[in-house]
Amino acid sequence: AATLRDLADQRGLRMGTAVGSQHLSQSQYAQTAASEFNSITHENDLKWETVEPQRGQFNWTNADRIVDFAQQNGQMVHGHTLVWHSQLPSWVGNGNFSRSELLDVMDTHISTTVGRYSDDIATWDVVNEPIGDNAQFRDSVFYRTLGQDFIAEAFRMADRADPDARLFINDYNIDGINAKSDAYYELVKDLLAQGVPIDGIGFQGHLISGQVPSSIQQNIQRFVDLGLEVMITELDIRIQMPATEQKLEQQARDYEQVVNACYAVSGCSGVIVWGVTDAYSWVPDTFEGQGAALPIDDSYQKKPAYWAIHEAL
Ligand code: XIL
Repeated sequence: AATLRDLADQRGLRMGTAVGSQHLSQSQYAQTAASEFNSITHENDLKWETVEPQRGQFNWTNADRIVDFAQQNGQMVHGHTLVWHSQLPSWVGNGNFSRSELLDVMDTHISTTVGRYSDDIATWDVVNEPIGDNAQFRDSVFYRTLGQDFIAEAFRMADRADPDARLFINDYNIDGINAKSDAYYELVKDLLAQGVPIDGIGFQGHLISGQVPSSIQQNIQRFVDLGLEVMITELDIRIQMPATEQKLEQQARDYEQVVNACYAVSGCSGVIVWGVTDAYSWVPDTFEGQGAALPIDDSYQKKPAYWAIHEAL
């Protein structure tokens, strides 16, 4: 059978996965990442705490491994992520910077990172998760010090570092129409009206099997109608363990619903799943009792969810 990558390439869609550099030496992992996906995201290796653990001291070893892997395999890289309250080194979070100092710290981080990969990374999650589940701006060091302008500033910095890059804002629980995605709708409308260089919005898509919002397609459409590109950037659909045949069938229908919602809207450029195999998914470590969230299981067998995507492509 054709791989997901073959089918996505034929349709001009992104079909990506998230990768950890620590796994790339395993041949089955690397082969699966290379053959099934046309796009790679760093699961952790490009985050601020990893690339700039101390002010002005950059370490690219693990980030480069993944970019090199993608290049060897002719894959796109979706850059994740530049400004986020989490996995942020404490020298930033607890730095007590003034407004102008924090802008300087952000600009150094963004321009160095985006500039380094300007030939290799064409799309970026510039700001990740700036709004909380209460649909208000999240209380981060960036928001506290700079107010909501930190978002516009980050996009301007990224745009200066690589004017050709396509720049995204990214969050979870905004897949369907709800108070949080409504807040994003108002925010991006405002950013666009101010001329801020934002090109897209990422719906992370960390979902629960049987609870996929029915309004995904309508929600994708309304952001596309604003002129934005939409991507599902971190899709996984978790199951209450143990996974039975019946639960895996339900999960396949859930995957089908999400990918079809994207494929039905021409401004939705594709889907990235959050991991190559259930064996290394973040889900069991994060959500007690839940797992089996990806299309490929922990022994690299293709699950019903895999075939549902295959069918939809
Ligand atoms: C997660 C990784 O998968 C984990 O390995 C890590 O321990 C924590 O971060 N939203 C995001 C991703 O934007 O960066 C997160 O990735 C999952 C939630």
